[in-house]
Amino acid sequence: MIVRSQIVGCGSYLPERIVTNDEIATFLDTSDEWITARTGIRQRHIAAEGEYTSDLAFNAADGALRNAGIRACEVDMIVVATTTPDKTFPATATRVQAMLGAEGGPAFDLQAVCTGFIYGLAVADSFIRLGQVDTAIVIGAETMSRLLDWEDRNTCVLFGDGAGAVVLKSNNHHGASGSGGRENLPRGILSTHLHSDGRFGDLLHVDGGPSSTGTVGTLQMSGREVFRHAVANLADVLEEALAANEMTPADIDWVVPHQANKRIIDGTMRKLGLGDDRVIVTIERHANTSAASIPLALDEAVRDGRIQPGQILLMEAMGGGMTWGAGLARW
Ligand code: ACO
Repeated sequence: MIVRSQIVGCGSYLPERIVTNDEIATFLDTSDEWITARTGIRQRHIAAEGEYTSDLAFNAADGALRNAGIRACEVDMIVVATTTPDKTFPATATRVQAMLGAEGGPAFDLQAVCTGFIYGLAVADSFIRLGQVDTAIVIGAETMSRLLDWEDRNTCVLFGDGAGAVVLKSNNHHGASGSGGRENLPRGILSTHLHSDGRFGDLLHVDGGPSSTGTVGTLQMSGREVFRHAVANLADVLEEALAANEMTPADIDWVVPHQANKRIIDGTMRKLGLGDDRVIVTIERHANTSAASIPLALDEAVRDGRIQPGQILLMEAMGGGMTWGAGLARW
C-alpha cells in the first residue's frame, strides 16, 4: 500500500481594490503599453488598509475547506507560504489557525518567496506520506504591496496581493506503483523538486529585516539577471520533474506556472513544446502575487472547469533566494 497526498479542495481570495496600469501611470513615469508589453500585467489587486496577509490567507483556506467538504477541526497541519507575514512573530499560520478554529496541530510559515507554494506542497506532502498528519492546508498568501517602493517603476508595477489555498488529504493506494500507464497513476502529488542557490540572493531581495536594519525594507531587483536565471532554472527543473515520472511534455494536461512575467511563461511553454491552450495564465489580472500565484491560478481553472479529475498538472516557480521548484500532480 502506498500513501499519497491528494489535493481534495482549493480556494482563493483577492482584495477588492483593483489598481490598473493607467492608475499607476497617474503618479509614476510609466504606461499601460510598457507594462503590458514587457510583463503581460494589466492590473493588480491591492489589500485595504488594515487588511492583513492572515485575512487573505483565512479567506482562501476557508474557501478550500468548503470546496473539500472538510471541517476546520479535521485539519492536522497548516503551512502558510509567505514573504509578507503580519508580524515578525508569531507565524501568520498560527493566526489563520485561530481564525479557522483548527486547534492543536502544527501551524507554521515557510519562506521561499515566489517558490513558497511549491515548497509548502513538498513539506505537506512529505508529512502526509510519512503518516505524521492526515489532512493539511497549504496556503500561499501575500500583501506584496507593503514591500514595494511605489516610486520605483522597475519593481512596483510588477506585484499584487492575494491568496490561494489547497487542502491535502492522505489517500491510500492498494498496490498502486504508478507503473502501467498514465491512467493507472494514483490521484495526488506525484513528485516535488526543490532547489535554491544562495549565491544569487542579492538579485532579488528586500533591503530590511529584524536582525539587519530593524526596518521592513523594500523590494530590490535586478530584473534582467532574474529573468536569465528564471529561464535557465525553470528549464532544468521541468526536465527533472518529467524524468522522475518517466513522462514527456505530451503527458501534461495543464501547466500551472508561477505568474512572474508573461514572457517567462511563454518561454517555458516554448521549451516544453506545448501550446497556449495548455497553460493557466492569470498574470494580466493578478500580476505577480509571489507565493499566492500558483494556488490562485489553480483555483480559477478548477472552478471554471478547465482542470478535470484525472488530469496531469505541472506546477513550477522561481523566486528570490534564488529558489526554484516544480511539482507534478494527478488531479
Ligand atoms: N515603465 C516604463 N519604463 C520602465 C519601467 C516601467 N514600469 N520599468 C523600467 N523601465 C525602463 C528602464 O528604466 C529602462 O530604461 P533605460 O533603458 O532608459 O534605462 C528600460 O525600461 C528597460 O529596462 P529593463 O530593466 O532593461 O527592461 P526589461 O526588458 O528587462 O524588463 C522586467 C524589465 C519586466 C522587470 C524584466 O526584466 C523581468 O520581468 N524580469 C524578471 C522579473 C521577475 O520575474 N521578478 C519576479 C521574480 S519572482 C519573485 O521571487 C518575487
